[in-house]
Amino acid sequence: MIKLFITATDTDAGKTYVAQSLITALVEKQLRVAVYKPISAGCEKVVTSQGTQLVNEDALLLANAANCQQTLANVNPIAFEEPIAPHIAAKKHNKPIDLTFLEKHYQSITTNPCDVLITEGAGGWRLPLGNGQFLSELVQSTEQDVILVVNMKLGCLNHAILTYQSIISDGLTCVGWVANCLDNMPYLEENIAELEQFFPMPLIAKLAKQTDIKQAAAKFNLQPLLAQC
Ligand SMILES: Nc1ncnc2c1ncn2[C@@H]1O[C@H](COP(=O)(O)OP(=O)(O)OP(=O)(O)O)[C@@H](O)[C@H]1O
Ligand SMILES: [Mg+2]
Repeated sequence: MIKLFITATDTDAGKTYVAQSLITALVEKQLRVAVYKPISAGCEKVVTSQGTQLVNEDALLLANAANCQQTLANVNPIAFEEPIAPHIAAKKHNKPIDLTFLEKHYQSITTNPCDVLITEGAGGWRLPLGNGQFLSELVQSTEQDVILVVNMKLGCLNHAILTYQSIISDGLTCVGWVANCLDNMPYLEENIAELEQFFPMPLIAKLAKQTDIKQAAAKFNLQPLLAQC
């Protein structure tokens, strides 16, 4: 199974958008794709026949794009209502984030018969969980490869290089990066070229601001990811 973790230079950089597009591209190739959003903060309270459920939009979008029939609780086991740093929400509600639980949950998803398991992080690479732990430790213990989404805007070179260096110093492999071109960045091509020169991993997609996920999916070069199959 190919295990990919989607991180980014920051929150709102396009992790979910990239994950949705990548999943769509993989599903089009007849691959079975499962998804994991370990922690979310920013949910809607939905009343169901089984009680109240916290529904996170990212988890819903990932689950809808994937094709392994997972429930929302399976995709996103830890959810907080307020859109704040998860470890602060956890402290407020006296529900500490348990890294071992997140690891076990990940392993349970890997028992699905799927070809690719895509995990979306929260925030950036070094997301605190509380108690001195970070979400990056989950990526290490579950041995996932990383895809780095760079929100192409002024200041992104610093964020992108620092994030890449942290991933590498954690002993992990970055298998590709995505240039998410949401802003009208001056000298965009020069900035992309700078990162292409710095990063050893390939640019797997350059996405313009476009809302159609199928069009975004068509932009991906899947070869560097599927080479592991
Ligand atoms: N290339 C794009 N074209 C159009 N819209 C985009 C693109 N990339 C991101 N967006 C939109 O920008 C917003 C932020 O993107 P997204 O939710 O994917 O970021 P994120 O990194 O997942 O954020 P979070 O840290 O909250 O999970 C969303 O409304 C998303 O649909
Ligand atoms: Mg997201």
